[in-house]
Amino acid sequence: MQRHLLATSISLGLFAGATTAALAETSPLEQQLKDLQSFQVIAHRGASGHAPESTMSAYELAHEWGVDYLELDIQITSDGELVVFHDDTIERTSDGEGAINDYTLEELKALDTGTWFNEEHPDSADPAFEGAQMLTLDELFERFGHDTRYYIETKSPQLNPGLEEALVAVLEEHDMIENGRVLVQSFEQESLLKVHELNADVPLIQLVWYHPSEEDNTRLVEWTGVTPGPEEITDADFQAVAEYAVGIGTNYMYEQQVVIDESFIRQAQENGLPVHIYTVNEAEEMERLIEWGVDGLFTDYADRLLELTE
Ligand code: G3P
Ligand code: CA
Repeated sequence: MQRHLLATSISLGLFAGATTAALAETSPLEQQLKDLQSFQVIAHRGASGHAPESTMSAYELAHEWGVDYLELDIQITSDGELVVFHDDTIERTSDGEGAINDYTLEELKALDTGTWFNEEHPDSADPAFEGAQMLTLDELFERFGHDTRYYIETKSPQLNPGLEEALVAVLEEHDMIENGRVLVQSFEQESLLKVHELNADVPLIQLVWYHPSEEDNTRLVEWTGVTPGPEEITDADFQAVAEYAVGIGTNYMYEQQVVIDESFIRQAQENGLPVHIYTVNEAEEMERLIEWGVDGLFTDYADRLLELTE
């Protein structure tokens, strides 16, 4: 009897130990990759349907809603600082003009990146948006830390030399990679591969943009040529992307034309690539894509998407 109890307690102990080991074995980075198997709500430039894009107000709101990822684009200033900004020029969303990387951080910080929103969206205008300062990546990380995940696009790599090196340095400084806090996305395969050379653990998303070919508008092509068009894409093409990326981010419409379908999504998934679609703002479209089985949506209205998915 005693031997039986001893054996039982040993095996229970072993079982508890094994369970603890199994739990300990899932690192935060592995957990992040597992989470990509479920639907992800991605707040495109923050809650940019309700507040000026890429500002702290837009990120605060999206974070409050509990989105899975804050999406952001990064560019580099003339003095080598990383700022959160989409366009290559500053006139659309600030009171300045010219190329963003012709300016120092101090010069960019003097701009107002909020008032344009109030003027263009009087229904959502808020005096608090006036005078919003351009954000650095550091400031965003300091504000939200490991309390969210970040979906970071290396924007226009040819115009932003040194972007990847600066990005990986900031990610490492804030322990973002091993804590499963970031995805790095780009339309430029070369930029993604450079990130991997600097740190092979960074999970990457290959962005694609399908549009009609200029030579033959009945044929769809991919902007940078990273894959063939959706009608011609093969398992081998998806597998080539899966060699370095953990997912694919694609448009679904070009102007009024739908450019991908359910079979594209299924084929990508069967080749190990979850599919995230940009940028989907209407509830009806969100529902349609969820029915198609997409793995996540980029949206300016994460509140609408959360209502559908929670
Ligand atoms: O990053 C996904 C989507 O944001 C790509 O388009 O132009 O909004 O950066 P864009
Ligand atoms: Ca983007």
